Amino acid sequence: MPTNTTEKMLNGHKKDVRVWCDGCYDMVHFGHANSLRQAKALGDYLIVGVHTDEEITKHKGPPVFTEQERYKMVRGIKWVDEVVEGAPYVTTLETLDKYNCDFCVHGDDITMTAEGVDTYHQVKEAGKYREVQRTAGVSTTDLVGRMLLLTRNHFRQGQYEYDVEREHSSTMGQDSLARSPWTGCSQFLPTTQKIIQFSDGKSPKQGDRIVYVAGAFDLFHVGHLDFLEKAKQQGDYLIVGLHTDPVVNRYKGSNYPIMNLHERVLSVLACKYVSEVVIGAPYKVTKDLMDHFKVDLVVHGLTPVMADVDEADPFGYPKAINKFLSLDSGNDMTTERIVERIIRNRLEYQERNRQKEKKETDLLNSLRLKGLQV
Ligand code: CTP
Ligand code: C5P
Repeated sequence: MPTNTTEKMLNGHKKDVRVWCDGCYDMVHFGHANSLRQAKALGDYLIVGVHTDEEITKHKGPPVFTEQERYKMVRGIKWVDEVVEGAPYVTTLETLDKYNCDFCVHGDDITMTAEGVDTYHQVKEAGKYREVQRTAGVSTTDLVGRMLLLTRNHFRQGQYEYDVEREHSSTMGQDSLARSPWTGCSQFLPTTQKIIQFSDGKSPKQGDRIVYVAGAFDLFHVGHLDFLEKAKQQGDYLIVGLHTDPVVNRYKGSNYPIMNLHERVLSVLACKYVSEVVIGAPYKVTKDLMDHFKVDLVVHGLTPVMADVDEADPFGYPKAINKFLSLDSGNDMTTERIVERIIRNRLEYQERNRQKEKKETDLLNSLRLKGLQV
């Protein structure tokens, strides 16, 4: 039963408020999830339209993930009720009517077509547009940038290089590097409030079978999603242990993780199969840990497992007590493969990032020229 205060009355009957969101949702991250969380809170039923590869390539350059991968990722977000595949890039009133949606929700950034037209102009004019707060410090563009930098200092270096460049350009008397307030965002600042908003806050019920998995879950992707779906089928309550950044760095190599622990926590919490997250789980799954969380089964995928610093198998204990399951996710996506895709298409993505920032800074400058505050 809907309980939202925005419920409407229709012929004496309560009518669900149906909310529409759309976007590329490429390399789905917690910024997307946070916008969908806020959108869902404005109504009762959330429909998300996801654009095709062809549309995205035309308007902002090639996506990193295929449309099939992006559709699946959006379906995996816990606030999403329905996904519309191949939604048009420009949101029309016909689209809202077709899916019986009351209004459209988007973050407070600007989205333009290849021709520089606001993709939401129609719904804005019709008063069917609502805005939610964009999550500062993360975007597909930013993540691609981090991978292109491929440095351990990726959280700061981009900003630093930019500052140096800007200082240089201001001494040259140019303002050409004015940063977009939308995409050119600073570092993400994690808060306990955000974790509370993302968490279900539910403890396991009496008799629930508790499943535990652990890993990096860096750049949360379709391989992780398929794995978590199958892991959840093994029980009722799924706990995901996330390793700290130094631990991940030890077993994945010098450039990983791409996303820090706090960012990984939110990405995993947004997944509909996940009940609880351990923020900085020990690498070794010990008796203490299993007793503490009353774990019935420990599950791991088919990806290789590196020995602990003492050379021991991190899953040695659950294996010894017969509470370990090796599970085939049926998906061969890995974080490394994503990075490879980016590196392989380095020039295309660099150009894509440059074009997007340029489009936004051009708009920003023209709004400022008109005396508008941004
Ligand atoms: N969004 C958000 N916070 C972010 C990133 C995206 O709230 N940090 C929202 C956007 O405002 C939009 C939705 O997520 O409502 C879908 O965004 P999308 O079209 O996929 O674009 P971006 O993630 O902004 O990707 P890019 O940086 O490539 O433009
Ligand atoms: O590599 P990472 O630590 O992020 O993996 C987390 C979990 O997801 C591991 O159990 C891993 O085996 C599993 N996984 C999977 N299929 C993939 C990618 C990861 O089963 N394609």
